[in-house]
Amino acid sequence: MNLSALLRARFQTALATLTDDPAPYAAMIRVAADPRFGDYQSNACMSLGKQLGKPPREIAALLVSRLALDPVCETPEIAGPGFINLRIRDEFLTSSLFAMLHHERAGVELTDHREKILIDYSSPNVAKPMHVGHIRSTVIGAALAEMFRFLGHDVITDNHLGDWGTQFGIIIYGYKHFGDADVVAANPVPELAKLYRLTNQLIEYQKAKKSLIALQAKLTDAQAHAAHETAASNAVASDTNTNAKEAKKALKAAQAAARRVDAIAAEINAAQTKVKAVDEDPRLAAIAAEHADVPAAVLRETAKMHEGDAENRALWEQFLPHCKDEINRVYDRLGVTFDHTLGESFYHDRLPGVVATLDKLGLTKQSDGAVCVFLDGFDSPMIIQKRDGAYLYATTDLATLQYRQEVFAPNRILYVVDSRQSEHFEKFFAMAEPLGMTDIELIHVQFGTVLGADGRPMKTRSGSLIGLESLLNDAVARAKDVACNPDRLATMNPPMLEEEQNRIAETVGIGAIKYADLSHHRATDYRFDVDKMVALEGNTATYMQYSYARTQSILRRVADEQKIDDIQAWLVENTTADQLQFSEPAERALAIALLRFEEAIEGAVSAYAPNQLCDYLYETAKTYSTFNDACRVLGNSDPIVLRTRLALVMLTGRVIKQGLRLLGIGVCERM
Ligand code: ARG
Repeated sequence: MNLSALLRARFQTALATLTDDPAPYAAMIRVAADPRFGDYQSNACMSLGKQLGKPPREIAALLVSRLALDPVCETPEIAGPGFINLRIRDEFLTSSLFAMLHHERAGVELTDHREKILIDYSSPNVAKPMHVGHIRSTVIGAALAEMFRFLGHDVITDNHLGDWGTQFGIIIYGYKHFGDADVVAANPVPELAKLYRLTNQLIEYQKAKKSLIALQAKLTDAQAHAAHETAASNAVASDTNTNAKEAKKALKAAQAAARRVDAIAAEINAAQTKVKAVDEDPRLAAIAAEHADVPAAVLRETAKMHEGDAENRALWEQFLPHCKDEINRVYDRLGVTFDHTLGESFYHDRLPGVVATLDKLGLTKQSDGAVCVFLDGFDSPMIIQKRDGAYLYATTDLATLQYRQEVFAPNRILYVVDSRQSEHFEKFFAMAEPLGMTDIELIHVQFGTVLGADGRPMKTRSGSLIGLESLLNDAVARAKDVACNPDRLATMNPPMLEEEQNRIAETVGIGAIKYADLSHHRATDYRFDVDKMVALEGNTATYMQYSYARTQSILRRVADEQKIDDIQAWLVENTTADQLQFSEPAERALAIALLRFEEAIEGAVSAYAPNQLCDYLYETAKTYSTFNDACRVLGNSDPIVLRTRLALVMLTGRVIKQGLRLLGIGVCERM
């Protein structure tokens, strides 16, 4: 049931009598901002009036006379300059509610435009520990996959692991120089992580040291520029002949120059911190001195691995399963699975073929010894093979695209990847046409950064990114404090044993992290704040889970009261359509919220924005809370009131549970 779509279709038919192109006007139907004026509103007549050169109210009257809204709406009202207010009939709501009661999928219909959609998500670079940034792609991608699947699309999920890049050069180098075969064999995952961290620290140290000289020069320039701008701004301000606009402009320029100085100073500070961490540790300092060429050496190890060097390939084969174990542990904890995990290494043998294809099409040019593709509308070319013969990220993506087309032939591919890679995807997508792949729609579903409490990309004090697992553990611990504190436990009957408490803490804690990520629009950065995430109040998973638990608690109590085993089955079997009737406005409001479930999922998938489903669930949970305050369910002897309210409670439970499931979040039967 999609009320919006239903109304749109009716409008489309009526609008076709007024214009040749009714679709865009029919689409101008929104949920009404103020329920006192109706449930939906169309503002089509404003635009249509303009187009037809007639007063919008006149068009509205004409349109209303041609609209066939039976049996969905009351007679529409024309308001203000020409809005059409629509109020759904109570009988239509109750009969839809009745149908929903018998519907397995909480009233959500399968699409009749089935598509094959491949979703590339998570895709971490393995061999380095997963951090909080990885959660975004994983959680957003998984939610999109579930939602598209639920609507009936053919979804293929593929984890494009970074299992072939420099990070392996890093652990190979670390292993060869600092590793102990026995120690690694005995405890591979943490030992390899240690080797990664040490080698990476040495690389960062050398890079930071090198960058400091250039940064100092940059700072001097920026300071001189800032001094100049400040002087100019002061001069303008003290000159009585200049106007306010000019003074403001000069001041803004001075402020921007000062901000630039601060930004460079911060960069210097960060680089110095990295340098200091090594210099002040005699053991590290000695290692760093001995391994001064580590950045280049790591690239050589990577290149050797790519070229098939026996030793490095063997090490890769040895390490990769452990790296996979490591990330699989996180996936298990998050409850995330993939249909395919075809990492970058899978495409290695296809890379020369990509270059050959592009050559044949006459798209490549040599530039500085590298093979490049120059694209219209881009300042810089796309490099597909470096001078030393190495292939790039882009080359692999092209090979992957060819493979996906051949093997899966999808209609759409979604790349759920950090927005910092948007230039890569713009260029890469621009290659699809010359490669003759215009029948696949390629979409970069981009997302912003996870910020720490200080508003900067989340990092620990030492400057390394916070490990994902410690964050998950922390959230679970806090969830236990919130959901299973002594005050709440005291109210539980039967008492809640440790085992159930731990299960709830895990569901609430992991759910909190996922929901916090999903509830922000993906394109925005958000602050990671565990206390807010697990809070029982507000737009949190915890609130939704708590609302669900409340519905189940009411159902259990009514079942007890009425001595019925399976209250949900009883309700479905023993309720007739005419027994569902509203006696309170809060019942009607909840019914209409529940009937908007499909609309919410469709909105979320069409914008690739799971936050729209979160918003919907939050609104629904709040509406349910109002209903709970206003409408007693227990101890109700009137069969109509009891059945109507029970149906609303049961369907609220179903919608929240299903909605959370689509977001990858579980529920608890009591909380
Ligand atoms: N491994 C990459 C990274 O961590 C993301 C890969 C995304 N998918 C793709 N087909 N490029 O940055």
